[in-house]
Amino acid sequence: MANFSNDLPCAPAFIEGFSKRVLVRVARNSGWVGDDARTTKEALVLYIHRKGMDVGQFKAYAEQPESPGNGGNSPGGDNSQGDQPGDSPAPGDQPGDQPGDQPGEQGEQGEQGEQGEQAKADAAEAEADAEQAEADAEQAKADAEAQAKAEGDNSPEAEEARLERALEALKRQRRERARQELEQARKEREEKREQEKQKQEKREQEKQDRKDSENSAPLRHPVFGKVKALVEAGVNVLLVGPAGTGKTTLAHHVAQDLGREFGAIHCSAGMSESHLLGYLLPLGDNGQFTFTPATFARLYGTDNSLFLMDELDAADANTLLVMNGALANGALHIPQNPLAPSIQRGKNSSTMAAANTFGSGGDYTYAGRAPLDAATTDRYYAVYVDYDARVEARMAGAAMPKVKTWKAHKLDAATVQAECERYLAWVTAVRAAVTKLGLHRVVSTRWVQKGVAAMRAGITPADVRVDMLASWTNDERARVDATISHEVK
Ligand SMILES: Nc1ncnc2c1ncn2[C@@H]1O[C@H](COP(=O)(O)OP(=O)(O)O)[C@@H](O)[C@H]1O
Ligand SMILES: [Mg+2]
Repeated sequence: MANFSNDLPCAPAFIEGFSKRVLVRVARNSGWVGDDARTTKEALVLYIHRKGMDVGQFKAYAEQPESPGNGGNSPGGDNSQGDQPGDSPAPGDQPGDQPGDQPGEQGEQGEQGEQGEQAKADAAEAEADAEQAEADAEQAKADAEAQAKAEGDNSPEAEEARLERALEALKRQRRERARQELEQARKEREEKREQEKQKQEKREQEKQDRKDSENSAPLRHPVFGKVKALVEAGVNVLLVGPAGTGKTTLAHHVAQDLGREFGAIHCSAGMSESHLLGYLLPLGDNGQFTFTPATFARLYGTDNSLFLMDELDAADANTLLVMNGALANGALHIPQNPLAPSIQRGKNSSTMAAANTFGSGGDYTYAGRAPLDAATTDRYYAVYVDYDARVEARMAGAAMPKVKTWKAHKLDAATVQAECERYLAWVTAVRAAVTKLGLHRVVSTRWVQKGVAAMRAGITPADVRVDMLASWTNDERARVDATISHEVK
């Protein structure tokens, strides 16, 4: 026999047709000796159903006067032991009657660590629910068909079948309710989790903002990551931007971060080759002239170093040509030092430059700037440096604004390779367009060299193309763009 409490139907709809008094009478007359004050209608229905009564018997028991409760006048009374609801837990104690037993409510107690388990249990339960719902739907369909057939049939068998169907329908109703409650509880848990996550993110952001504004350590410029990645990739970087945007500071930060020895020269029109290469000075024994390398030359031969040509566009373009060979190749030639006429480039020795213009010459704002030789600018990868709103906010003691900092673009090796090939096709097309349009622009092999290195360092292929054309006028860009074919863009 099935466990009484597990099978107990919750049957308000079904019981509507029979008063509890009638049900008690039927039950008593069929041998039940339980306490009718403590017994529910559902328990009585189940008991009656278990007795295997057909409708005729049901009516007969209902019409009899109620038995004294010893089951003595019931035909089935002698075999009803152990079947009695009175043997079962009181209905109020039965798990099926307790809303608190719904799985959804148990989930409310779920702590962080249990959430994974809970999610698994939920998923299993949801699957079981879905299967059950499907079975229920089929059953409901079969029942409806049977009911339609039996409509008007008053035989005891048909009555019995109707009773059976009514019980089944109630069980389905109850399962459906439990499923809905489970679903609801699951939704609430997910919402709660999401809210918690958002709160946590907000707290962390606030903490970071507070740190940023309280901290007196220098802020890294938003393009710091990009410049550092390029320097690490062995690319000469030219920082271009208005005065005071933090270019010199940025170069310092890169050297600091990479653990490189830092040196700089402030270029000017009066700067000579010796300022870059070195001097023969009478510092030797008996006033002998000995070669003293300048900072650039010294750092060029030093491992883990970074040299900044600051205000590059203030220098005489011709003076800068002495370093062109050194920038592209692995050696710096110093004719002034016959004893050691060349210096080999050290490992991880980089050169950076900073300028207010792209080397196109002075304008109203930067009057003293000379046009730079294309052979010089071509050796650098230009990165535009704009004002950093956070630095200014900190100076003013204002709230820290949010700024977008550069992040490396991670691509797998095969994609980078494909992008490099597409980029090469683009460079070739741009070069052809420059020739065709008669533009005074150099599209050199260095475009390929520095562009490919930049993509491998995490700069997006689109950004690399923008960076290559940064010093061009809008008109030049538009004309070239209109000339090259769509496939290579
Ligand atoms: N990241 C930073 N954090 C704090 N102060 C900065 C930062 N960047 C620049 N500054 C300040 O801004 C001013 C201009 O910076 P600087 O690097 O000299 O700009 P640029 O070389 O572009 O002219 C300097 O006073 C510098 O101390
Ligand atoms: Mg500066």
